[in-house]
Amino acid sequence: MPWVLFLPMPIISEEQAIESLIKGGIVAIPTETVYGLAGHALNKDAVQHIFTIKGRPLIDPLIIHVSDWEIVNNLANPSDLAKKIADTFWPGPLTLILPKKPHVLDLTTAGLPTVAIRCPKHPVIRRILKGSGLPLAAPSANPFGYISPTRAEHVLESFKDSLSVVDAGPCEHGLESTILDLSHPTTPRILRPGPISAEAISQTIGITVEETSIVHYNTTEAASAPGLLAKHYSPSTQLTLLNPEEPTPHIPGNIARIHLKRPLIINDSSKHFWLSEDGNLNTIAHNLFDLLRKVDNQGFDTIIIERAPNESIGKAINNRLERAGS
Ligand code: TXA
Ligand code: MG
Repeated sequence: MPWVLFLPMPIISEEQAIESLIKGGIVAIPTETVYGLAGHALNKDAVQHIFTIKGRPLIDPLIIHVSDWEIVNNLANPSDLAKKIADTFWPGPLTLILPKKPHVLDLTTAGLPTVAIRCPKHPVIRRILKGSGLPLAAPSANPFGYISPTRAEHVLESFKDSLSVVDAGPCEHGLESTILDLSHPTTPRILRPGPISAEAISQTIGITVEETSIVHYNTTEAASAPGLLAKHYSPSTQLTLLNPEEPTPHIPGNIARIHLKRPLIINDSSKHFWLSEDGNLNTIAHNLFDLLRKVDNQGFDTIIIERAPNESIGKAINNRLERAGS
């Protein structure tokens, strides 16, 4: 039989994704945040395959996606506080770090005593979770360190013939979920800002949620607090960040300028790009990774982009920009 028959098909249906996942395969699937690279979270070979295809260091643990709260009790020991938060924000773009049950693979959690769990809202991943009946480990479906995919085409660009994807168009939020550490029951802490703000969680639970912006500059340091690696989400092109209202500096070379909103006057339209018409932060978040990828592919020497106002999802936008530019 010719070997080409074993290549994955680029675009597959939900049913084909379910079949592949049940057999221990890995597939890219949409969520409301970014596309994920999914496999059966309790199948060691599937999880190993995810790390290998992403080129991800084994010290960086994966999020397990579940269809319902009931499944959380099979994987973790959640507190009443965790239940209260999940009742308000799930399904949705919020990942909870909880004490793990022993049978959850050390490979998935990078040997940590905690596990990251998220109940996504996107109807396609929800049908795949329910149809397969599996908890799905799924990091963002990009090569480690590169920009997360918000469209099926992004996944195909990176993985060509080695991965199949279920195409459901662009992801709503365009930035990864908020990660909330609940491993210390009385001091909830945001590890990664995202679409759900610390303020919204604090309001729900009546406890102040800490917002840490710790970043680690090498993988050894990151091992003690994974997910906080400074260099991440990076385009190949050099990225320079500006503060809001800061004038564009004169930098030598072929420069691309990304604006948060459509500029009033542009002198060279081939070098100016914008993330929204009017500066709406949700629109900016939705378009950020897609535009960064497009501009990254155009051979510029440097991309100059300004930070967003540091409020609501602007904090998550700035977190990704800082890490992309570090
Ligand atoms: O929106 C999202 O969260 C997407 C979609 C696909 O669901 N997933 C995602 O996964 O962003 P990933 O692997 O790209 O990022 C997950 C982050 C990593 O930075 C990882 O270090 C952190 O979650 N993480 C996972 N388990 C952890 C744990 N037990 N403690 C602390 N951080 C953890
Ligand atoms: Mg990622």
